[in-house]
Amino acid sequence: MDEMARSQRFETQLDPAVAEFLSSLGFDWRLLGDDVEGSLAHVNMLQQQGIIPADMANRITTALIAIRREWSEGTLEPQQAWEDVHMNVEGRLHEKIGADAGYLHTARSRNDQVAVDMHLYMRREGLAIRGELLTLLHAVVRTAERTQDIIMPGYTHLQPAQPILMAHYWLAYAAMFRRDAERLSDWARRVNRSPLGAGALAGTPYPTDPESVRQALGFTALYENSMDAVSDRDFLLEFLAWASIFMVHVSRLSEELILWSSQEFGYLTIGDRYSTGSSIMPQKKNPDVAELMRGKSGRVFGHLMGLLTVMKGLPLAYHTDMQEDKEAVFDVVDTVHGVLGVLPGLLDSLTFHPERTYHNAEQHYTNATDLADRLAQSGMPFRQAHHRVGRLVHDLYEQGYQGFHQVPEDVWVRLAPDIPFQWLSDLRPEKVIEARRQSFATAPDAVRRQLDALKDWLSGHA
Ligand code: ARG
Repeated sequence: MDEMARSQRFETQLDPAVAEFLSSLGFDWRLLGDDVEGSLAHVNMLQQQGIIPADMANRITTALIAIRREWSEGTLEPQQAWEDVHMNVEGRLHEKIGADAGYLHTARSRNDQVAVDMHLYMRREGLAIRGELLTLLHAVVRTAERTQDIIMPGYTHLQPAQPILMAHYWLAYAAMFRRDAERLSDWARRVNRSPLGAGALAGTPYPTDPESVRQALGFTALYENSMDAVSDRDFLLEFLAWASIFMVHVSRLSEELILWSSQEFGYLTIGDRYSTGSSIMPQKKNPDVAELMRGKSGRVFGHLMGLLTVMKGLPLAYHTDMQEDKEAVFDVVDTVHGVLGVLPGLLDSLTFHPERTYHNAEQHYTNATDLADRLAQSGMPFRQAHHRVGRLVHDLYEQGYQGFHQVPEDVWVRLAPDIPFQWLSDLRPEKVIEARRQSFATAPDAVRRQLDALKDWLSGHA
């Protein structure tokens, strides 16, 4: 702790190990611009309300702007003697204008100060992340557009289930990322609130005007309760929860890119700019980018769990426990930016192998449901049709056939005299895809309409 926050109540200096332990300077330096923005609004209000004289407010304002410039130009060095970014700004202000610097902290506490810094920071980063998310959505749309004619097996339990258009698969991820964007917008409304003026917890006896500070900082609302304003971190928890859900989507997609780029699947190839080699095995081409995105989901979930745990037992109002919010949030912000920085390009780098996906869509009786449906349409109860086709598949596997399309007519007539051989032509993957025409289903027209609807939405959210 430094001399500024340490009043004459104390007889000795803080133990150096304790000072180092308490310091947040190693990670909160990135808040300096936001801290100055909050202070500028605060000083202006103090002057408007006649709490400090105009010439003093002007001196403080000019010096704060200069400090922010030194910070953004990289010439301002964090001073370890001051325990956090807030104390560093005040300390530097003191170096610049002397004792007048001491008026800045009138009618304010570091508790509402750090809260406003985090709101300003989160509001800006949230907006940036949303923009990057839309860029990702555009890349998913491009990928869906170029895979509209590719037929592949859709899976359940990672077992081939029914044929689908590959574009249909991409549009599923597009729908998830679109909800992520919508969730982020909804969260942004709750972040856009000003806690400044709450003081340590109870407000302040000065004739302040928190409403004008709110306006100056561009927040849409003031917190309704000063204790809530300084002591909740739900706007951060909600961001971490948002990021966790987003990373679940990223991680599942990554997992599929890893599987599908394997020799065993061979459905796609990841571009060389997004692939790495092995230090020992010269033949290797590894999907490290997708692996690392999948892996980074773990740290994001961990930070959510960490901050939930930090917060859950805290009586109102502020506790230093809450200083632990920063590394969690900053790391998640950086991680999400990192993912969004590479994922669109990775998708654009993909090449697909339609003959391979088509082959697998034809194999493995992925059209068995359609044969059962056909029997059911001709009057058989569906459950009975399901059993009948199941036995037929069993018998055909025993004869060594991997799909209905391989079965010659004479074998068919022998094993399935009750099912017309001509039906098989309607079981081609193209046909069973074409037959699924609901708005959300996999028929080419339906997929085209889903794609158009998404493009419409995107063009309204640029
Ligand atoms: N570095 C602190 C934090 O990050 C700032 C607030 C400190 N307030 C206090 N009363 N100790 O939360």
